[in-house]
Amino acid sequence: MLVYGHRGYSAKYPENTLLSFQKAIEYGADGIELDVHLTKDKKIVVCHDETIDRTFNGSGLISEMTLEELRRYDSQGQKIPTLEEVFDLIGPLFKINVELKTDVIESDELVFRTVKLIKERNPDRVIISSFNHKSILYARELDKNLKLAFLFGEQHIGKIKEIEKQSVEAGIFSYNLPVYAKGMAEMDELIDFAKDQGIKIVFWTVDDKEDMEYAIEKEAYIVITNEVEKIREILTSHLE
Ligand code: G3P
Ligand code: CA
Repeated sequence: MLVYGHRGYSAKYPENTLLSFQKAIEYGADGIELDVHLTKDKKIVVCHDETIDRTFNGSGLISEMTLEELRRYDSQGQKIPTLEEVFDLIGPLFKINVELKTDVIESDELVFRTVKLIKERNPDRVIISSFNHKSILYARELDKNLKLAFLFGEQHIGKIKEIEKQSVEAGIFSYNLPVYAKGMAEMDELIDFAKDQGIKIVFWTVDDKEDMEYAIEKEAYIVITNEVEKIREILTSHLE
């Protein structure tokens, strides 16, 4: 099982910053998860929300600000990174899950530009995910070999059968499932279907022993966590 730092090592460092990604690597994560948006001048930047209000000392929509404007602000001393800078930091081999944040602001252009960049940066170690499954299907149209993931949230309840069909047609690599929904009938159905079809199971956000034991029982391929050290320790003691 692999441990990915959710927005880096976000339990201890400012989320989705180069510092947070560096610390995830230092503290033993196998990979990182991050979120991407497009700026007004079409740069791919790493941030969770559509605005910078929650995480930076400024306010405004990322889609309405240039990279230069965004760089006037900081998150606990850290500037907003571009996806390219993250790839430069982590090098050509370190694993990464890039989440396309197209569920609030739809953007084929973000998908197109992100796919283009990933293809230049050893795509085999990259998983591209999104709650907006249309973005994932578009990414598949752009490239037949990328590792693509359907991310699941409450908006997908009641659509499971249709999603399963699309997964097979599009050659989906993994189902990225919310661990907080463990025990729900639809989760169990998705996990069983994934196992039958050779689709990998990824759980987010696994931050404690109980959720980690569930992930181990379900033979997850990846757990995405805010608590890199803690989850790494639980996994190590499980393997001993
Ligand atoms: O990729 C898993 C997880 O990050 C999805 O939820 O809201 O933290 O981006 P969120
Ligand atoms: Ca995310």
